[in-house]
Amino acid sequence: MTLLEVRDLHVEFQTKDGAVKAVNGVDYSVEAGETLAVLGESGSGKSVSAQAIMGILDMPPGRIPKGEILYRGDDLLTMGREERRKIRGAKIAMIFQDALSALNPVLTVGYQLGEMYRVHRGASRKEAKAKAVELMERVKIPAAAARVGDYPHQFSGGMRQRIMIAMALALEPDLIIADEPTT
Ligand SMILES: Nc1ncnc2c1ncn2[C@@H]1O[C@H](COP(=O)(O)OP(=O)(O)OP(=O)(O)O)[C@@H](O)[C@H]1O
Ligand SMILES: [Mg+2]
Repeated sequence: MTLLEVRDLHVEFQTKDGAVKAVNGVDYSVEAGETLAVLGESGSGKSVSAQAIMGILDMPPGRIPKGEILYRGDDLLTMGREERRKIRGAKIAMIFQDALSALNPVLTVGYQLGEMYRVHRGASRKEAKAKAVELMERVKIPAAAARVGDYPHQFSGGMRQRIMIAMALALEPDLIIADEPTT
């Protein structure tokens, strides 16, 4: 079964000057174990289509007038909220283009990494913290155990990027969407 299949995806945004058509009929599929690169100029809809797959588009003003996003054959666009929530982060994870805006500035990185385990796996606070340290070590953050209680702004840009990668890896998803992987 194909891991991800995007069919004729359309996304638009309502603005005061009318509808902005951000994605106009994108089709692609990704098999398990496969890497797919999506290229396009700035503003061509790469991030918006990724947000549509993750189910994190701002709706409104965003709208998906047409298309299907099949994850292992099930359409993410028509499934229930609860079912969708179980897939987001756990089965399909995203590494965002901008780490600073993806991380919550008022929560420690350990809390944010641990949250993945608390929400999806029912881990205790203590277990979640231990997992957070493990993840930080996995992406080679020096002195991870000592830094698990630090806030995002206390890390360098590159380290923040790694923390975001760690967050995407946390639940061993089937699919990772890396928005601007070269950064
Ligand atoms: N919330 C929004 N409201 C209105 N328009 C939006 C919104 N988000 C994105 N857009 C528009 O959608 C279009 C596609 O944007 P998107 O961020 O997907 O581009 P991109 O291909 O990721 O570009 P880049 O390479 O610069 O990251 C752009 O015209 C953008 O201005
Ligand atoms: Mg983008």
